[in-house]
Amino acid sequence: MELYMCKQWVDFFYYSNSKAMVNVGIIGYGYWGPNLVRNFFAAADCCVKAVADGRSERLQQLGKVFPTIKGVQDAEDIIYDPDIDAVIIATPVSTHFTLARKALAEGKHVLIEKPMTSSTEEAELLINLAKQKGVLLMVDHTFLYTGAVEKMKYLVDNKELGNIKYLDSTRINLGLFQSDINVLWDLAPHDISILNYIVRERPYSVNATGITHTNNNIENIAYLTVNYASGFIAHFNCSWTSPVKVRMMLIGGDQKMILYNDLEPTEKVKIYDTGYSYLNDEEKNKVRIDYRTGDIHVPKLATTEALLGMANDFISSIQEKKEPKSSCQLGLDVVRILEASSESIKHNGREVILESSTSPVTHTIQEVLI
Ligand SMILES: NC(=O)c1ccc[n+]([C@@H]2O[C@H](COP(=O)([O-])OP(=O)(O)OC[C@H]3O[C@@H](n4cnc5c(N)ncnc54)[C@H](O)[C@@H]3O)[C@@H](O)[C@H]2O)c1
Repeated sequence: MELYMCKQWVDFFYYSNSKAMVNVGIIGYGYWGPNLVRNFFAAADCCVKAVADGRSERLQQLGKVFPTIKGVQDAEDIIYDPDIDAVIIATPVSTHFTLARKALAEGKHVLIEKPMTSSTEEAELLINLAKQKGVLLMVDHTFLYTGAVEKMKYLVDNKELGNIKYLDSTRINLGLFQSDINVLWDLAPHDISILNYIVRERPYSVNATGITHTNNNIENIAYLTVNYASGFIAHFNCSWTSPVKVRMMLIGGDQKMILYNDLEPTEKVKIYDTGYSYLNDEEKNKVRIDYRTGDIHVPKLATTEALLGMANDFISSIQEKKEPKSSCQLGLDVVRILEASSESIKHNGREVILESSTSPVTHTIQEVLI
């Protein structure tokens, strides 16, 4: 009797503390889809019920790796399946809006791959629909779940770099030329999401230039500058035509600077105790610069797989009705910058003011609002 009571109590505590399982369906099993399937398969409180891909050879591949997961060719078999609580969209960007709108209208929680949509208008429509339906809408900006980005955010939040002045990112390689989006829409979402996550100040405007070498109006090399009212500046260099792969970001503060090299196996973040001070000589109209170089510190980083962290965040945000780290608002802010960059490229680098901006760039050095 005592033993039986004991078991009852264990069950009571176990089930009252356990959370409802979330059944997910994944649309798109091309290049990125398999990574999502693998990580949602491993995520806590999650069951991958079905995967859709229009190409039968991809479903054969799914069957080999995950024989227990149902493969379907039509995305609607996932969207309208009453047993599926959440839909994950890993298809080309041009299809995100239509698939997500259908799934949200059905009352499903939705996770969309980056970039969220092809326009801010589409992203705003999805955000409003998710609110109306009371479901979670999230965007997979995977890098926010890396130990390196978490560490850099911690360093900036805690003013370890002093006041930050610039972020400079290079993401280039001999990349797959996309047929529906240019190189900025393909590669820059990662870096823009990191920028928006780390820097609290919202940008004021963008300038971008780019060039196509394939006669199809899809730029394969592009440079984007994001301007801030405080004088902080961010710059992104993206290319599919580099002989070497570079994934590097610099974040400069007035006390220390960070070098983030994502290709380094372990020492991805280095903090340079490097800076400068200056003295304006008003009479001679000259500036005297004093340089300081000190130690280089390599912090220890969390090593859990970023995509698993993202999958767990999606599931727990559904269960706990909380805002995920990679929220739909962050997804919208990334699309806003990308859309403005396309407008600027069209006009040979003309400054495009961002809609959400409230104050102009002064180009005077103020304290950055972090
Ligand atoms: N988070 C990241 O780090 C990361 C990395 C790579 C790609 N992505 C994103 O993932 C998404 C997919 O990229 P990809 O490189 O895997 O593309 P892909 O073209 O390799 O794969 C897309 C798959 O979706 C299938 N598909 C398209 N429309 C469909 C529909 N209506 N119904 C069923 N299947 C459909 C295609 O058959 C294809 O197999 C993009 O948004 C991309 O930006 C994210």
